[in-house]
Amino acid sequence: MFDAAIIAAAQRVEHYQMAGYGTARSITQHLGYGEAVRLLQRTLDEEKEADHKLTEIAESQVNIHALL
Ligand SMILES: [Fe+2]
Repeated sequence: MFDAAIIAAAQRVEHYQMAGYGTARSITQHLGYGEAVRLLQRTLDEEKEADHKLTEIAESQVNIHALL
C-alpha cells in the first residue's frame, strides 16, 4: 500500500510539471522563441514518459500488491 501511495504522489508531481512545461512551451511558441519551444517540448515529453513509466509500474505490480 505504501508503494502505491508513493507512486500516486510522484504522478501528482509529474502532472504538475507537465502543466508548467506545457504552459511555458505554449507561451514561448506564441512569442516565436523556437529554441525555447524545442527545449520545453523535450522536457514535457520526458515528464510524460516518466508518468507513463509510473503508470506501468503501478498497474503491472504495485497496485495488485496494495490490494492483498
Ligand atoms: Fe518529472
